Amino acid sequence: MRNVHLLPQTRQLRALHTVVRDRHAGLDAFVLHSRRIIRLLLEAGLDQLPFTEHDVTTPVGATYRGLRHATDVCAVAVVRAGESMEAELRDILPGVRIGKILIQRDKQTKLPHLYYSHLPPGIADGHVLLLEPMLATGGSANAAIDVLLKAGVREERIVLVDFIAAPEGLAAVAEAHPHVKIVVSSVEERLNEHAFMVPGIGDFGDRYFGTT
Ligand code: PRP
Ligand code: MG
Repeated sequence: MRNVHLLPQTRQLRALHTVVRDRHAGLDAFVLHSRRIIRLLLEAGLDQLPFTEHDVTTPVGATYRGLRHATDVCAVAVVRAGESMEAELRDILPGVRIGKILIQRDKQTKLPHLYYSHLPPGIADGHVLLLEPMLATGGSANAAIDVLLKAGVREERIVLVDFIAAPEGLAAVAEAHPHVKIVVSSVEERLNEHAFMVPGIGDFGDRYFGTT
């Protein structure tokens, strides 16, 4: 899919996934290895933003033809699971502004319900990293994107940062919001009858925050 950026499927990445997908993973190991994957995703997400040329002089007096980010970026976390990505993002961008959108998927209908949103002022002027680790049906992500669009953010300035995604979820976002860019560390086989991804990782929010 045109706007989907899948992380390189290295053996190292698979080793990290092997820890977090194990149903017997302890909370410490789950959080540590998830955070290492999240770091890779955020760096890949930042790579989707525009750059301008910026030269620097190196210690040996040579010119390095470099780049730097050309626009303002803020983040919006879809509560609750999206908050798992905030600590890594702050390590990379210490002063980053982070908005919140509280969306919960109804346990029976699997449909997303929007409860609350609070976005940084001026969000429409720059790019937005939308933090939403799980893209199952894509309903929650699409609802969150709608909130951003209503706030004036341009669709092509949204980078959706997903831990894992189902083909169904990727297709749903691509259809509703074709200009949104997506970075993801794994594309799963399918959704099961409970709208959980297979092989998947279970309920990411519950596992990350220790509420299983
Ligand atoms: C889960 C997950 C995503 C959403 C994905 O959230 O964290 O937000 O479901 O499903 P979808 O693509 O089918 O909409 P959940 O509502 O279970 O809450 P949580 O983030 O608090 O764990
Ligand atoms: Mg969620």
